[in-house]
This record gives sequence, C-alpha cells and structure tokens, in this order.
Amino acid sequence: MAANKGRTVIKRRYIAEATAQTFHANSDSKVRCVRGPIGSGKSVMCIMELFIRSLEQAPGSDGIRRTRWAIVRNSFPQLKSTTIKTAIDFLTEEVLQITYGSPITGLIKLNLPDGTRVESEWYFLPLDKLVHILLGDNGINIST
Ligand SMILES: Nc1ncnc2c1ncn2[C@@H]1O[C@H](COP(=O)(O)OP(=O)(O)OP(=O)(O)O)[C@@H](O)[C@H]1O
Ligand SMILES: [Mg+2]
Repeated sequence: MAANKGRTVIKRRYIAEATAQTFHANSDSKVRCVRGPIGSGKSVMCIMELFIRSLEQAPGSDGIRRTRWAIVRNSFPQLKSTTIKTAIDFLTEEVLQITYGSPITGLIKLNLPDGTRVESEWYFLPLDKLVHILLGDNGINIST
C-alpha cells in the first residue's frame, strides 16, 4: 500500500494457473465447477473470480458497480480458518473489510480510475448454521 497524491494505491500480484485462466475466461456460464488436489489453488481462484466480477459489474446511473455475493462452506471453522484467511491474504484487509457478525460479511468499497465506484458485499455462510436456521435448533429429528 502506498500514498499517491491523496489516493491510496494497493498493489497485489495474482497470477492465474492454467485451470484458473480457463475458469476466469468462461465467465458467462450460470454454473461453473472446479475440482483439484488439496492446496491446488481452488479457493484463491474463486475469491479472485468474485473480485474480478465485482470490478467488472456494469455501473448504475450513479456510477456505482454494485454486487452481492454468498460464499458458502460446510462449517463456521472452515470459513474462518481457510476461506476468509485466503480472501484477506489476497485482497488485504484494506480492500476487504470483514465484520464478524452473523453472518460474517465482507465489504469492498473502491474508487476506480475511470471515475466509477465499486461497492461489493460478501456474505460468508456456513451450512451447519443454515441447517439450524432452516430446521430449528434441534436439527433434523428422524424417528424410526
Ligand atoms: N495463483 C496463486 N498465486 C500464488 N499463490 C497461490 C495461488 N493460488 C494458490 N496459492 C497459494 O496456495 C495455497 C493453497 O491455495 P488454496 O487454499 O486456494 O487451495 P485449495 O485448492 O482451495 O486447497 P483446499 O483443497 O485445501 O481447499 C494458498 O495458501 C495460496 O497462498
Ligand atoms: Mg480451498
């Protein structure tokens, strides 16, 4: 991060591997899936895809590029110890401001050089919590 004529400039380098390049390029499909070995960069690729789409979103008449995303993992610990950590590693806390409420939210507010503004909300949702919300605190009650 560096001060530059009253602006804050944050420089981060992300080099997409071959699979990630294909994934990023195929940006009009409604559903895209990826699989790969542990630690092969799937989470980083997905985080960067959301960030790219947030920047690319067409601006409204007020010049604001608004997006809202849901990032869903199996459990709260998985979200906190891996997904959110990865997101902060790559986007920095200056860019992705995390609030540890319920749900955990991330907020990106950026002014782009073309005069438009990015406002992107990220909802980090654990499925274990969702099951409780949908089915009540007792979860599924199956009797035989
Ligand atoms: N394009 C990249 N450039 C630099 N480092 C990367 C890149 N992609 C991934 N990494 C590094 O590799 C590590 C593993 O990446 P990531 O967590 O995305 O893998 P994963 O496939 O989601 O793993 P898991 O299967 O455990 O969920 C991360 O700590 C990250 O710093
Ligand atoms: Mg992962």
